[in-house]
Amino acid sequence: MLTSTQARQWLDRWDRQQEFYLADREERFTVIGDVVAAAANRPDPVVVDLGAGPGSLSVRLLHRLPDAEVIAVDADPMLLGLARAAYGSTRGLRIVEHDLRDAAWVPALGRPDGVEGVDAIVSTTALHWLTEPELGALYRACAGLLRPGGVLVDGDNLRESADRPRLDALTKHVRDARIERTAGRDREDWSAWWEAVAQAPELAELTDARGARPIDHTVPQEPTLDDHVRLLREAGFAEAGTVWQCGDDRVLVGVR
Ligand SMILES: C[S@@+](CC[C@H](N)C(=O)[O-])C[C@H]1O[C@@H](n2cnc3c(N)ncnc32)[C@H](O)[C@@H]1O
Repeated sequence: MLTSTQARQWLDRWDRQQEFYLADREERFTVIGDVVAAAANRPDPVVVDLGAGPGSLSVRLLHRLPDAEVIAVDADPMLLGLARAAYGSTRGLRIVEHDLRDAAWVPALGRPDGVEGVDAIVSTTALHWLTEPELGALYRACAGLLRPGGVLVDGDNLRESADRPRLDALTKHVRDARIERTAGRDREDWSAWWEAVAQAPELAELTDARGARPIDHTVPQEPTLDDHVRLLREAGFAEAGTVWQCGDDRVLVGVR
């Protein structure tokens, strides 16, 4: 039986391993909160967190906006199981298990028909798992869900365009050097975290569930910033662009 304390310990380790790749992860969360708070301009916005994983961004948004409703959507039974165990009783948080490549994720949110659209859709370090056609379909669905003036806010590492390989290599060098200065090389990385999870007796049930529903995330060519902006405009967003960045770590916003 997985306890809330155990789940929180695993999620502390999750946060540390994510910071192995993202030195500014907390700042990026804060910036996303700034955008959501300003665009929603109400204390109780409805927010959807796409590829929420174990709810790292969802709970930070709820800490900042305690009257918000945050719907965390993800397809990974392990990460959602940890989120349920750690934060299941958090007011305002709802967890939905669904693959975002299947259009049925929208009705799975359980928003009654005819209700005003959601205020914000957020995501961090997740949408690069989608191919360009999948991302286009997702953005169209998001445009349909958001109220006019609502925002889509995506934090992710996005290279600007496909025609700058040497600048991309330099950007990666700068990022790696920064990580070495901040996190250091001996931190637990993604693979080590997942290996530890697979060995943990208290997570055995979730490990089995994950094994039964694996997510394929082979993306031969990750969409660039230019692709994201174009897809957002094609989906019906009035404006789209970067509001914050450090290297290729960006917060991209689409305004409905
Ligand atoms: C690197 S994790 C980031 C999780 C969380 N947003 C964070 O910042 O800690 C990427 C997340 O995207 C989710 N994801 C990837 N492809 C997905 C899909 N097709 N449907 C739903 N979730 C997906 C994964 O399950 C994983 O939780």
